[in-house]
Amino acid sequence: MNFLQQYVHEYLGWNIKDLKISSQELQHGYRTRTRTGYKDKQQIQAYVFTRFPATYQVCLQLIGEHIKELEINSVLDWGCGIGTASLALSKYFENIEYFLIEQDKQAKDYAAQFIKHFYPKNVIQQDILPEKVDLGVFSYSLGESDNWKKHLDDVWSRTNHLLIVEPGTTAHFQKLLKIRDYLLLKKDAYLVGPCYHSQSCPLKEKDWCHFSVNVPRSKEHKILKNAQRGFEFEAYSYLFFSKTSKMHDEFGRLIASPRIHGGHINLKICTRKGEIIEPTISKSHQDYKQLKKSVWGDGIKNELH
Ligand SMILES: C[S@@+](CC[C@H](N)C(=O)[O-])C[C@H]1O[C@@H](n2cnc3c(N)ncnc32)[C@H](O)[C@@H]1O
Repeated sequence: MNFLQQYVHEYLGWNIKDLKISSQELQHGYRTRTRTGYKDKQQIQAYVFTRFPATYQVCLQLIGEHIKELEINSVLDWGCGIGTASLALSKYFENIEYFLIEQDKQAKDYAAQFIKHFYPKNVIQQDILPEKVDLGVFSYSLGESDNWKKHLDDVWSRTNHLLIVEPGTTAHFQKLLKIRDYLLLKKDAYLVGPCYHSQSCPLKEKDWCHFSVNVPRSKEHKILKNAQRGFEFEAYSYLFFSKTSKMHDEFGRLIASPRIHGGHINLKICTRKGEIIEPTISKSHQDYKQLKKSVWGDGIKNELH
């Protein structure tokens, strides 16, 4: 069990049979897009056991790549749910202010309880849109909203940096493309990642930009999902913006797993010029050894053709 599952297990108590029903209801809500918030305490616990491990892992991955080196003293976590993004951020930024916006009162109260329990030095504010924050986050929440422009404006106008994370599906990618265009063309935002460019997205017609993390499954997680394997792959798409421009040194980003063959590797890269290239790198290439170790999502430093 991860830290939050352990806490929920010890302090809130649950019955695996009831959780299974709640977890099926949650999944049904996602599939049919009828879910907003959580019906009851059981559904919140089901979320902790079945969705939280993946969304938390994705947040940690993105914080590690884009945020951990920044100066962050305040966070606006919009649609915080049970506080996944704030819990992940608290690993790096403790003793700072977290503003939680969430329509589901029960989830918001649990978020505050969880964050306070694990990171007591944090200051938690609920239902307040602050004047200014260092980081705004939409963790799996903006895609749920029909009124996304208003919510995006509310957060973008108050923050220096903005992270938007969504599931790695074609539908969510299409929504992210609209958000990308809106912030780049109408709000003069600087795009920090995943793109190393601000051109039109070269994947938008036939493909979708997404990445993947490996998420360990607890025994209870496996029972609730009727799963055998001790891990799952979680696909995600994201955008990270800043109000401050950033020079990218990288040549491009790997947008698929490298395919390793006997004497060569095939790569798929979105370059700094906004082009997709698929170079074959042979053993004799000077970067072969290093590229062989690279993984999907990595930035590629040197120019490759
Ligand atoms: C899929 S959950 C994600 C929760 C959390 N951010 C996470 O990453 O685990 C989406 C959350 O957004 C909240 N939400 C959706 N529309 C909202 C709105 N208009 N105002 C506040 N919260 C909203 C929902 O209640 C839900 O808790």
